[in-house]
Amino acid sequence: MSTFQAPKGTYDLTPPRSATFLAVREAISAPLRDSGYGYIETPGFENVELFARGVGESTDIVTKEMYTLTTKGGDQLALRPEGTASVLRAALEANLHKAGNLPVKLWYSGSYYRYERPQAGRYRHFSQVGAEAIGTEDPVLDAELIILADQAYRSLGLRQFRILLNSLGDKECRPVYREALQTFLRDLDLDEETRRRIEINPLRVLDDKRADVQKQLTDAPKLRDYLCDACKAYHEEVRALITAAGVVFEDDEKLVRGLDYYTRTTFEFVHDGLGSQSAVGGGGRYDGLSEMIGGPELPSVGWALGVDRTVLALEAEGVELDLPATTSVYAVPLGEEARRVLFGVVTELRRAGIAADFAFGGRGLKGAMKSANRSGARYTLVAGERDLAEGVVQLKDMESGEQTAVPLTEAAAELAKRFG
Ligand code: HAM
Repeated sequence: MSTFQAPKGTYDLTPPRSATFLAVREAISAPLRDSGYGYIETPGFENVELFARGVGESTDIVTKEMYTLTTKGGDQLALRPEGTASVLRAALEANLHKAGNLPVKLWYSGSYYRYERPQAGRYRHFSQVGAEAIGTEDPVLDAELIILADQAYRSLGLRQFRILLNSLGDKECRPVYREALQTFLRDLDLDEETRRRIEINPLRVLDDKRADVQKQLTDAPKLRDYLCDACKAYHEEVRALITAAGVVFEDDEKLVRGLDYYTRTTFEFVHDGLGSQSAVGGGGRYDGLSEMIGGPELPSVGWALGVDRTVLALEAEGVELDLPATTSVYAVPLGEEARRVLFGVVTELRRAGIAADFAFGGRGLKGAMKSANRSGARYTLVAGERDLAEGVVQLKDMESGEQTAVPLTEAAAELAKRFG
């Protein structure tokens, strides 16, 4: 161990577990790539104001959890706490919405930062794969995204997740509900901070986990009773489309989400094996966000799935991903001359697209064969002085144990043939 450790709330991804993270990112993005989503990458930091306006001044993310900094030039920046505001900012800046092809469908993968109280499944640096479909109001698009996330989780072998679905209404009906809710909440017995929350973000009070608060909320007005006809019809359509696709979900009228930009469809993927940090992914529609950050009206929908929690969910379910061995051929040289010759063969194999590794450091046969085993390689190439004198290498099939002498000059071609 060195003098230093990873900062609080962070951890390093090291082999072999890091391979699972790569596979999860790959599995989540595969359905998106196959469905017309293009890859987007934005900076790890943005102007603080983008998140203040986009994610919302009243959210915990903006008020408590952002890593902010002032540059030497005086710019106020924040490490990105989420991806949606940045992706929309970038799409607007590149005028993607004017290219005539709406919705603009984008996917991304990267690191996000929130100064949260660390616990199992909650980190200060975490990783998401996300998708945003910008510029179209169409329930089919909401359904598409939910179905693709479901497909991604299923392709990984996850089974114990549930999809919670809700509608938060739009700019017509939500304000009416908000006021009715505020009137109800103001009469309750609540602490100072919660009272303040009633005025800034009353819907979040419904999310309060404390039993004494929940007890008082039984008769709270329900958003469902306030949805306007357009929002109701939209939501019914989303529900019907997901159902038709055979995706099971639960209606959850208490689902609020921790970001302010949502309108209409909101959803969360929760996993029952994860304890309190059970949300493995979440998203929804954000029809007003573009205007909130100074853009034109662009109704949009998206989600982000947490890679860290998805890996924890796999571990909780005991799912072992079928990760193919990264090395196909392992070369074991015995002696100086063999080192040079076999390294040449390894280079040739690699150039031919066959994954090959080498016993470095001139170790003995026993230790080197152990490494060959550990590498998962299907074949080993062993050569000592006598082999070289005869112009051959020993090709060992690690599955059958069968060993054959192959002319040195034909070793690479022979392996290429076997991997066909
Ligand atoms: P979010 O619900 O804040 O949504 O985050 C999405 C997922 O990221 C969570 O479900 C969780 O798996 C993971 N996550 C969030 N915070 C942490 C943390 N501290 N440690 C570990 N994992 C975490 C968003 O970020 C929205 N931008 C999603 C979206 C996209 N909405 C529309 N488009």
